[in-house]
Amino acid sequence: MAAAREYVSSGNFNMSNWQELEHKYFMRTFERIPVTLVRGEGVWVWDEDGNKYLDFVGGWAVNSLGHCPPVVVKAVAEQVNTLIQASNQFYTIPQVRLAELLVQNSCLDKVFFCNSGAEANDGAVKLARRYGKLNLNGAYEIVTTMGSFHGRTLAMVAATGQSKFQQPYIPLPNGFVNVEYNSVEAIKAATTSQTCAVMLEPVQGEGGVNLPDDDYLAAVRDWCDRMGILLILDEIQTGVGRTGTLFAYQQLGIEPDIMTLAKGLASGIPIGAILAKDRASVFTPGEHGSTFGGNPVACAAGYATLKFIIENDIAGNARRVGEHLLSELGKLKEKFSLITDVRGRGLLAAMEFSSEIAQSVVTACLDRGLLVNKLKPNALRFMPPLVVSSREVDEAIGILDKALSSVSS
Ligand SMILES: Cc1ncc(COP(=O)(O)O)c(C=O)c1O
Repeated sequence: MAAAREYVSSGNFNMSNWQELEHKYFMRTFERIPVTLVRGEGVWVWDEDGNKYLDFVGGWAVNSLGHCPPVVVKAVAEQVNTLIQASNQFYTIPQVRLAELLVQNSCLDKVFFCNSGAEANDGAVKLARRYGKLNLNGAYEIVTTMGSFHGRTLAMVAATGQSKFQQPYIPLPNGFVNVEYNSVEAIKAATTSQTCAVMLEPVQGEGGVNLPDDDYLAAVRDWCDRMGILLILDEIQTGVGRTGTLFAYQQLGIEPDIMTLAKGLASGIPIGAILAKDRASVFTPGEHGSTFGGNPVACAAGYATLKFIIENDIAGNARRVGEHLLSELGKLKEKFSLITDVRGRGLLAAMEFSSEIAQSVVTACLDRGLLVNKLKPNALRFMPPLVVSSREVDEAIGILDKALSSVSS
């Protein structure tokens, strides 16, 4: 056992300057906050110096059941001790159980597992292109919206309608058309005989927590039906309870043909999923695959997470506590003239400022023990674990209030 301990990479927190070492060894892709996190429990995390923070970032909307939720820890520990990986040439039980749970609790019929959100969307686009080849005379174009975010693979950068992600990599793969968000007319104008699908986030997350107009998604659904093309909903950020229902489409009175999930599905163990209606589930053996996709440990974590969310109405908690969060953010807007807007759905909320003070507010919150996300230079995003309580929201609001006072004075 003593020897095995030496292979564990956590622990001995104060032995090194981790941030200096990171600068030495890591590619500079992340703008990191100078805090090294070493432990988490529920909605709380601790840094290497023992400082405690209320976590309203939640691993970028991933820690749906909070940090180290006991049901997931147990499921993962048992699976790690039983079977860590098997190739997809074989059947494995956690994969089948998670697929069954997803299908039984959604409008979709078939599942493919992968490892991240970008990979799920990339696969969904491949699925739509296969559908186009088989049913739409080879149509392959996907219409997406400005302000969207679909991931970092080269194809998903092309799908993401934000030039800051696209510019560094031009030329991009073709087959994507980015149109104005919340405009069904723009989607209609972009649809040609080459279009096989429209891909949308029910609420644009990374792009600004942008809410759809009331009739937008129903009108898009109607248009897709009229044209015989597919509707792909990217529920990677909105899914598994985040917006107050298990999936955001359930609030919109529509059903997607294809839906993608990742982030909160397995409480932080990497996973992605493509779900499709039977008629859109057109892959045949060999047309798509993944070494790690459907990995037993990830699926065990996903099964425990999703089962807990469903059985304990965690989406209902997200809805109720989310309403409380939005109302408290609204009170801060009344108090501070520098806040120009607050918006959100469930436990996905944003606060916008009249100037570029978001980084200062993030730092002022950090100093007082609250983690929040800088969404844009002039906006914050709040995406705490879905199990957060109203009392913990009040605690966060109290800190945010003090941070805003310090920045505005
Ligand atoms: C809506 C949406 N789609 C896709 C992605 C990409 O997911 P991943 O970072 O797991 O590749 C994200 C990540 O923020 C997202 O919010």
